Amino acid sequence: MRIAIYPGSFDPVTLGHLNIIERAASTVDQLIVGVLENQTKSPLFTADERVEMIEQVTKEMPNVSAKTFNGLTIDFARQCGAQLIVRGLRAITDFEYELQMAQTNRILAPEVDTVFFTTELKYAYLSSSTVKEVAHFGGDIECFLSPLVAERVYKKLANKNSSGGKS
Ligand code: PNS
Repeated sequence: MRIAIYPGSFDPVTLGHLNIIERAASTVDQLIVGVLENQTKSPLFTADERVEMIEQVTKEMPNVSAKTFNGLTIDFARQCGAQLIVRGLRAITDFEYELQMAQTNRILAPEVDTVFFTTELKYAYLSSSTVKEVAHFGGDIECFLSPLVAERVYKKLANKNSSGGKS
């Protein structure tokens, strides 16, 4: 059984992530999307909300599931029985950080390999942070996200604004 994890923040999951999920899932028996909980960044969505959105947008993909995780990615990989860690590469600017992470993970867990999927050109510019910034300033985010995820972002920002940013 070939199992891969795809770890990340996914705050929220974008069409770029979804494209990587589809392509990675077609190469393995099981793909587990890992949503990191213990982040220093303050996320827009809770980890459970992010998992829920990933589950909704991947519901037609039978071998994809999503879970939250804490701590090291390699520990999550081991818990899942995964042999592979999937990451997307958008541009050369991602490469140094990704290489460092992959090499560190390889030292910590030599039985686990990292595989990179190059992001589809049409999503090469896309990041969750950019999407949140566009939405924050009232821009249209529907070309970057699945409709249900876009809806959740608009709702979350509206709630945040109505509670004076306390959420
Ligand atoms: O989507 P992101 O924010 O680029 O994902 C980064 C992530 C979650 C893959 C990375 O921060 C991570 O693996 N964090 C868990 C802690 C860890 O294992 N660190 C050692 C790798 S250098």
